[in-house]
Amino acid sequence: MVQGIANWSTEQSREWLQSYVDDWVSFYRKHTGEGSVAEYIPQLATADPDALGITIIGRNGIKVSSGDVDLPFTIQSISKVISFIVACMDRGVSYMLDRVDVEPTGEAFNSIMHLEMKQVRKPLNPFVNAGAITVTSTLEGKTSDEKMESIFALLEKLLGYRPALNIDVYESERDSSMRNRAIGYYLLETGFLESDMNTTLETYFKQCSIEITVQDLARIGLILANDGEDVETNEEIIPRPIARITKALMLTCGMYDASGKFATYVGIPAKSGVSGGIIGAVPPRVREEVLPFMEGCGIGVYGPALDDNGNSVSGIRLLRHIASQWDLSIF
Ligand code: DON
Repeated sequence: MVQGIANWSTEQSREWLQSYVDDWVSFYRKHTGEGSVAEYIPQLATADPDALGITIIGRNGIKVSSGDVDLPFTIQSISKVISFIVACMDRGVSYMLDRVDVEPTGEAFNSIMHLEMKQVRKPLNPFVNAGAITVTSTLEGKTSDEKMESIFALLEKLLGYRPALNIDVYESERDSSMRNRAIGYYLLETGFLESDMNTTLETYFKQCSIEITVQDLARIGLILANDGEDVETNEEIIPRPIARITKALMLTCGMYDASGKFATYVGIPAKSGVSGGIIGAVPPRVREEVLPFMEGCGIGVYGPALDDNGNSVSGIRLLRHIASQWDLSIF
């Protein structure tokens, strides 16, 4: 484990952390060949399978960025974190938790098995597609563009700029959306949707196609780590109870059917997407020794080669290594 320095907030220590992360990124880039890029959305299949990049931003202002950090990618399922927060802020937490549960499924992200087989009263969590599409149906607005407005408004507050849609990915996603349409029809039949099904699905495809960078993910992760407050201005961007529920869901359901392993071996609230992005929120932690990013940090990772669970194969290995070296686990 990396330790033995009195203060990890100086420029010299930043350079030291940077050289560690540079080494780790080059090492784990070799593992990208163990996964493959998502192909069920044709446009995602054009990503460079060997790409790997990471940005870590600390509450102490230290930022470390390494690898392919300038490659934009679509947010995909990480948008489910944003839409859930927006819905909770607009509708209230209890309204939303009456409509989606907070239980892990242990199933693939696009499974509806539990809904059908267990006859549950509501989708099991907002990060599986059935739950996410239900959440999207609660967003305010009649058209998909109106519904997207509240997502963009929150992203603008979190990032300081308004990200754009990747139209090619949006069209590709919309045109290859058989499974999500099946989920949409199931939710319609069971009465879970609060808006027109086509408008809801169109909004869902758009939210997944927002283009971001690892730096953006690290910034959002940092605000979540800081219980919803901007670390620089102290402005509350996400109400604390909503930030906390979101982190609990990220820890228990954020990496789909690999969430238990990720919680065990990495131990930080995180959420993945099929384009290869991962957002991590590392809260402040108490340790006897002085460690990097003890005051908390946000992490953004991009590595489009995925494992069987749909999570970035080298991104997870890289995060696991950093978490063990710097003792980032919340446990
Ligand atoms: O629902 C879909 O198919 C995608 N647009 C989002 C899925 C996703 O990112 C799942 N993540 N691991």
